[in-house]
Amino acid sequence: MQKESLALHVMWHVDALLQVFPITIVTTVDKDGNINAAPYSLVVPFCSSPRNPQMLLISNRNWHTAQNIEATGEFVINYPRAAHLREITTTSRFYPAGVNELIYTEFTVMPARFVSPPRIVECYQHIECRVHAIMRPSPTQVNIVGAVLDLSADQGLYARSRLDRTAHVNAPLYWGIDETRGHIYGTTGALSTEAVEALPEDRKKVAGKAP
Ligand SMILES: Cc1cc2nc3c(=O)[nH]c(=O)nc-3n(C[C@H](O)[C@H](O)[C@H](O)COP(=O)(O)O)c2cc1C
Repeated sequence: MQKESLALHVMWHVDALLQVFPITIVTTVDKDGNINAAPYSLVVPFCSSPRNPQMLLISNRNWHTAQNIEATGEFVINYPRAAHLREITTTSRFYPAGVNELIYTEFTVMPARFVSPPRIVECYQHIECRVHAIMRPSPTQVNIVGAVLDLSADQGLYARSRLDRTAHVNAPLYWGIDETRGHIYGTTGALSTEAVEALPEDRKKVAGKAP
């Protein structure tokens, strides 16, 4: 197979690069306590020792989310279901500072355990963070490392097997932007134990090796 190198535009990560991203909704509050919500896909969980679970959140520094985090040091990462794609899109609209995007959605909120920004009830999982470090790789961007204070999920979800809960939450997946600048979405809902067990057989058939 021949290979070709692709152009590295400013949006290369959601344009040229073919990679699936999670979709989360980050909730923050401003200094006056006004709630803000916005979708974020550039969120990376990591841990370099058992004592420092952390999240990397990558943001345009002009977004209210980033400004609120810089002002208060706190944020919550909420994981929505694909059924709420319309609500997710609504939170991505640009409203003036201090406007709570969630009032234009069906989402409701509940307090977080350790920080001021709320959790979104209809999301299946939440990560509460306090700022650990902020990097500024360019004049327009902030890379925020948050210390994870709490991970919470819908009661009973964690009792399921990992595969079942991945299929059950039917998480939306973001595949970037197409040639018309439309967003491409998928879901994890098609996953099941059966589907995964069937994979080796499918591969054999594709390879022409099935009996
Ligand atoms: C699916 C999706 C994922 C997004 N991910 C990010 C991201 O990771 N980083 C970012 O800076 N903006 C991201 N955005 C754009 C912001 O959500 C958007 O600009 C929003 O208006 C910012 O809102 P705010 O000013 O209230 O924070 C994303 C948008 C969508 C629709």
